[in-house]
Amino acid sequence: MPHKNYPSIQAIVLAAGKASRFKTKKTKLLFSICGQPMILYPLKALQQLHIPTTLVLGYQADQIKQEIESNKLQNVSFVLQEEQRGTGHAVACSQDKWSSQYILIMNGDCPLITPELINEFIIQHEQEQAPISLMTTMVIDPKGYGRIIEKNGKLSIIEDRDCTEKQRHINRINTGIYLINKTFLEENITKITTQNLSHEFYLTDLISLASEQGLPVNTMQVPYDNVRGVNTLQELWSVEQIKRSDLIKHWMSEGVQFELAQSIHIDLNVSIGAGSFIGTGVHLLGNTIIGEECIIKAFSIIEDSIIGDSTTVHSHSVIQKSTLGEHVEVGPFARLRTNTKIKNNVVIGNFVETKEVSINESSKAKHLSYLGNAEIGSSVNIGAGTIICNFDGTKKNTTVIEDNAFVGSNNTIIAPVCIGKNSYTAAGSTINRDVPEESLAIGRAQQHIKKNYAQKLRKQQQPSTTSEQEKKSFQGATQTHEIS
Ligand code: UD1
Ligand code: MG
Repeated sequence: MPHKNYPSIQAIVLAAGKASRFKTKKTKLLFSICGQPMILYPLKALQQLHIPTTLVLGYQADQIKQEIESNKLQNVSFVLQEEQRGTGHAVACSQDKWSSQYILIMNGDCPLITPELINEFIIQHEQEQAPISLMTTMVIDPKGYGRIIEKNGKLSIIEDRDCTEKQRHINRINTGIYLINKTFLEENITKITTQNLSHEFYLTDLISLASEQGLPVNTMQVPYDNVRGVNTLQELWSVEQIKRSDLIKHWMSEGVQFELAQSIHIDLNVSIGAGSFIGTGVHLLGNTIIGEECIIKAFSIIEDSIIGDSTTVHSHSVIQKSTLGEHVEVGPFARLRTNTKIKNNVVIGNFVETKEVSINESSKAKHLSYLGNAEIGSSVNIGAGTIICNFDGTKKNTTVIEDNAFVGSNNTIIAPVCIGKNSYTAAGSTINRDVPEESLAIGRAQQHIKKNYAQKLRKQQQPSTTSEQEKKSFQGATQTHEIS
């Protein structure tokens, strides 16, 4: 794309409407498409071209403003359209901001527009010297869009509601993207009326106003998939399908293999290294980075996480806000939560949950554990069923497990506590005191043996011969402390 600085252009993006066809309380402009709110798409395209932008806000203005501010977009100002009286009225509300020779006006619900097309549009507008340019497209089902009507060499736009039966079949539609000379806009914005079935001020009337004055209207036809409007949840779904398949095709061209590609969710800011494999139904969300040669197996969800090269995530694992090194193995059915930091060659097996944990190289926790608020050294073995009791009811406490420690199965580790280097803890232990280096800690109830007691139990279990006295002594057998 030829890079150009546009000192003579500013943009007005319309985002005040209530979006009643969405039938949701939340404004459609904040609905996400591949992990990014819809309104950010046109704004970011304009940012790429360094075009200063004014956003017209109304319905849920504060929420939209907050989203834009938290994304730190440059050169965006806001105006308020208190009452939503149509797109023409929305543009009129921004009049105080008009300062450039050309005003680019766009609907906020046009997320697939690209900087390349805007750039082409601007170049064409400058060449054609018409007071107004209009982006149009052809669509098989034009329902809902304003139709482009050409009669006796004059152009006009008739909104869907206002179309005659014949006009309804016209497939050439208005995309809602216009480039207008400021002087023409100033002279004509007040001429728009509400003489239509919606009783709204239609911005589209500017086209017939130009034609009626004998002025040329420049049109540029673009592919429909770049200018789809989003007025319903169904249209949102269509647009997201297009965006997502574009992303998947891009990563395929970068050497990523997708199993059942149509089942995969992938967000805009995800990146994936060459040679990686993404299984059926995987969700890669937020700012996730997958390294090279990774295998992410079916139905795993990875959000805002970094996965090192050659790491395997087995199926049905959930990884959030975590960092994994290289040659790590996770899952199946593992859950790595906030601030899990795992170094190279670590193995996290099935039904293991981690949170606020760092695990150094080559350590293993292969089955059924909870590891929270812990620093775990290298080559540590965490036995099956180990639980770190990190929460005492008021605060989280830290556990340290040093290099080469061997934690036996079914340990209950009560934080704060430290298990020293090269030490062992016996299976079934409750560890609530520090274990020194090179030691063995046993913290479990002792086993008692009652020789030949089995015969007695069996006898007591026979119902026909059980006397009241024997029943009592059988109860005693379950309360072992009462039996001498
Ligand atoms: C609009 C066009 C239609 C075009 C279509 C392309 C008009 C009258 N119609 O119809 O010709 O084919 O876009 O997608 O312009 N908005 C405001 N204030 C308002 C009303 C709307 O800021 O008072 C904003 C909305 O938030 C939205 C944009 O303007 O972002 C367009 O409004 P929308 O209701 O989606 O118009 P369409 O019916 O899609
Ligand atoms: Mg629309």
